[in-house]
Amino acid sequence: MRMFDIIAKKRDGGTLSREELAFAVNGFVAGEIPDYQMSALLMAIYLRGMTHQETAQLTDLMARSGDMVDLSAIQGVKVDKHSTGGVGDKTTLIIAPLAAACGVRIAKMSGRGLGHTGGTVDKIESVPGTRTDLSRQEFFDQVNRLGLAVIGQSGNLAPADKKIYALRDVTATISCVPLIASSIMSKKLAAGSDCILLDVKTGTGAFMKTLEGSLELAQAMVEIGRHNGRKVAALITDMDIPLGRAVGNSLEVAECVQVLRGQGPKDLTDLCLRLAGEMLALAGQGSPEACLEKARAALRDGSALRKMIEMFGAQGGDTSVLEDPSRFVLSPCRREIQAREEGFITAMDTEKVGIASVILGAGRLKKEDAIDYGAGILIHKKTGEAVRAGESLATFYTSDPALLAEAEEVYRSALTFGPKPPKLPPMVQARVTEAGVERF
Ligand code: URA
Repeated sequence: MRMFDIIAKKRDGGTLSREELAFAVNGFVAGEIPDYQMSALLMAIYLRGMTHQETAQLTDLMARSGDMVDLSAIQGVKVDKHSTGGVGDKTTLIIAPLAAACGVRIAKMSGRGLGHTGGTVDKIESVPGTRTDLSRQEFFDQVNRLGLAVIGQSGNLAPADKKIYALRDVTATISCVPLIASSIMSKKLAAGSDCILLDVKTGTGAFMKTLEGSLELAQAMVEIGRHNGRKVAALITDMDIPLGRAVGNSLEVAECVQVLRGQGPKDLTDLCLRLAGEMLALAGQGSPEACLEKARAALRDGSALRKMIEMFGAQGGDTSVLEDPSRFVLSPCRREIQAREEGFITAMDTEKVGIASVILGAGRLKKEDAIDYGAGILIHKKTGEAVRAGESLATFYTSDPALLAEAEEVYRSALTFGPKPPKLPPMVQARVTEAGVERF
């Protein structure tokens, strides 16, 4: 077999066999296939696409390029969730305790933030002392004992994805549905859970900016699950408006506590209940509607909040900040961003809101950048809300006052004002399962 022929076949619109895909992926990981040939194949895939079967086989090969985590030491149904990323997206820290409080096992490996979107591991580490580097045995023991653990990705998980992603990043082949779907799902298959719930974001703050694009990505990932023996469902959810009102690590964890106390923003609370209900349904606990009720009960009776605190405590965190979020140390330099005009916010460029928080120190532009956990933005006025001139639109937090001006300029450029409130998109726009697409 020759890589040249595989590239030519895909260039001409052919369908690659498992053997051909294995030759390309395994050869590339082993260093036998050079970057330029893999780049050519990626561009051919970008231009010609892949069938669902090809995408599923590519994903399986990428997953098997490294460790396949065996979760069989954990009793019960293991459910994972993945969000395609957004601004203010702190759902994992709410949904995982909600689902665990209802009896599902969450053995979750999460990532760090990069670019304008945040990452769960950074949020977790903003609670002083919390470890995200548990050993495999500690991880399994904690999930068996408490029902949940959320840690950083460890070991050699889908190394083919790491190598291929690095090439895609510099060859203009990122925004390609089969390549995004196989990249995300290879890590999920390797992480070992039985069921996977996907939160596919759509809108200005998301990877996929349109509903149709998000549906295509969700369908590709559900199909990958089906071909590889995992139960997968996806909700397509709005990311045209930041989720909740907090953007930045400590600010977001404090908001998670608010939600679990029943005092959080409605958009975030409703979305988390829907996602938790879907996770329970995937795990076989009943219909999505019945499971939504179970999730609501776990929020109302405080059992989900207790689970969250137990999890942080078990991972070494200082739970006093969760018992009383006013104890979080926020960055000392603050600025109110005051409205210069009166009217309604008619749109927010959510990606720019994320960029403003990164400028303040809440995220990183390069992998090596340090995070200022107490930095970020508390949003007081969101899309659809009325504003009077002089009112505060948002409070900025940073440790470096020199960053405030640039962040303010970016934030203001994200906002559009008008005389009338806009029609808001529904938070959950569609559900994608093996049975098909349901639009809401
Ligand atoms: N997230 C991933 O893990 N991979 C992609 O290709 C895009 C988003």
